Amino acid sequence: MEIEIQNHIAHLGKFSVKKSENDCLLDEACTMASTILNVGCGAAKLLVMVVEEDGRISICGLRFDDLLSELLPPLGRMASKMSTGISGTTEKSSLAKLDSAELVSSPTDEIDTNISIELITEDDAEEVLKMLKKFFFKDEPLNTFVDLGECKELEKYSTKSLHEHCSFKAVNSRGEIVGVNINGLINRPKETDEPPAKLADVCAHPKFKKIMALMDHVDENFNIFDLYQDVDRLLDIKIMSVDSTYRGLGIAGKLTDRTMQYVKDNNIKLVHVLCSSHFSARVMEKMDFQEVYNLPYQDYLVNGEQVFDPAKPHVAVRILTKRIN
Ligand SMILES: CC(C)(COP(=O)(O)OP(=O)(O)OC[C@H]1O[C@@H](n2cnc3c(N)ncnc32)[C@H](O)[C@@H]1OP(=O)(O)O)[C@@H](O)C(=O)NCCC(=O)NCCS
Repeated sequence: MEIEIQNHIAHLGKFSVKKSENDCLLDEACTMASTILNVGCGAAKLLVMVVEEDGRISICGLRFDDLLSELLPPLGRMASKMSTGISGTTEKSSLAKLDSAELVSSPTDEIDTNISIELITEDDAEEVLKMLKKFFFKDEPLNTFVDLGECKELEKYSTKSLHEHCSFKAVNSRGEIVGVNINGLINRPKETDEPPAKLADVCAHPKFKKIMALMDHVDENFNIFDLYQDVDRLLDIKIMSVDSTYRGLGIAGKLTDRTMQYVKDNNIKLVHVLCSSHFSARVMEKMDFQEVYNLPYQDYLVNGEQVFDPAKPHVAVRILTKRIN
């Protein structure tokens, strides 16, 4: 087997290595990535091609930021995808960016880019939960940090707004849900309304309670309706999750495009999203959302102690918004 790693930064040329042991793939890939970083490129685009002795080819396209610590986990996933691609026959083996032929092209490369964006209804609740439990419950940065495990409270939170019919799913050609935007509508509270109960006070799950306490802290320090005096109703993107196999393909952006279409059609003037993840904040920034609140994790202290220290690059809770004109 030959492994070839080719970067798209012209002056760095091409790196390639021959290996006979598939187990060494990750080490080799990391060495390559580290070499590329050491010679000073910022955001590298990598094409990784595996050629088996019988001529079958798998290709992955990946984009990396400039920190090696960010590179290692994607490379781990890449290595496992490549292993899958090698042993399988026509399994999806590429992370080609949707709508972009730039990164990947191969006659033998079968990409499941046939993704449709559809409305989520109450009937989808079970499938949506299955997907979220597999991914979001484990890989949203705060859930990962507290090692959330089973959480009925988060299950309830995940499905309670589905009846509003403003949430969307990305579905692949096999009918599997590979991404969701779970959205909810929020009305400006009336002056006569009782102040809502603190989320942490009504949460029995000790780990989720910590996350709810952070949400309470954000609510105490930032009121979206104070900032937007003319807005009486907004759409909140409550959960954004994409199947880890399909990340980096712009699927969250497609889901958010559909969400934006919904708000336009329904005369909603503002979209709000609280991003605990650097990656979700990137999605929103790419769609011209503006940051209106930023709380670095290192500044959120309870009894003088930092509570959350998720893995880099997740450094802050940020609220981003977009007005619809
Ligand atoms: C946040 C999330 C929904 C983004 O979905 P997505 O469809 O991969 O979004 P994009 O393709 O636009 O990529 C967004 C960013 O993710 C990063 N990314 C790219 N490829 C990636 C990969 N293979 N794996 C992980 N992250 C990747 C990049 O920083 C990218 O930004 P860039 O395009 O400026 O480089 C997805 O990463 C996810 O499900 N994360 C876990 C759950 C979570 O944290 N949800 C948000 C909580 S607020």
